Amino acid sequence: MKIQTTVLTTLALVAGLAVTTVSFAQFAKTEDAIKYRQSALTVMGTHFGRLAGMARGAIPYDAAKAQESARIAATVGHLPWEGFVANSFAAPAKVKGDIGANMADFKALQEKAEAELDKLPGAAGNLDSLKAQVGATGGACKNCHDKYRQTN
Ligand code: HEC
Repeated sequence: MKIQTTVLTTLALVAGLAVTTVSFAQFAKTEDAIKYRQSALTVMGTHFGRLAGMARGAIPYDAAKAQESARIAATVGHLPWEGFVANSFAAPAKVKGDIGANMADFKALQEKAEAELDKLPGAAGNLDSLKAQVGATGGACKNCHDKYRQTN
């Protein structure tokens, strides 16, 4: 009995691991990859938008709320990139230029933005440092959007 349970548990673990690995490496459909990255970008953008609002005085600065949004933006900011898979750059994606042919450039811009997002939680506890880091992070978003995001 005990051995059987162990074998079953092991099988379940192996199976679970296999499923995780597969779903991490690919999406069933191109639209799933687009939806995945747009969803993550929307969540990240929502929280980054709150920080930007506080930085320019449109939203009252609140250190606890700023730190919460900074943590979410930084964490979720690591997620969209997995969804930028080959042959997923036509409509309904809102992509400009040719990401597929410029993956190395795209990845460099992505990593720069991730590094800036990761600095937000440390900066959010003080309005002056938040302003500076919102500026640096927003610049990293813009560097990629100017080249690769279709805005109309
Ligand atoms: C490496 C490139 C890159 C970086 C860096 C980047 N974005 Fe984007 N972003 C894109 C592209 C490309 C799209 C369009 C994606 C699509 O439609 O498939 C996009 C779309 C979006 C969207 C719209 C999502 C939707 O539902 O259509 C938001 C919001 C957004 N980005 C916010 C941000 C913010 C905030 C940052 C910086 C913290 C950022 N992005 C950094 C490339 C980037």
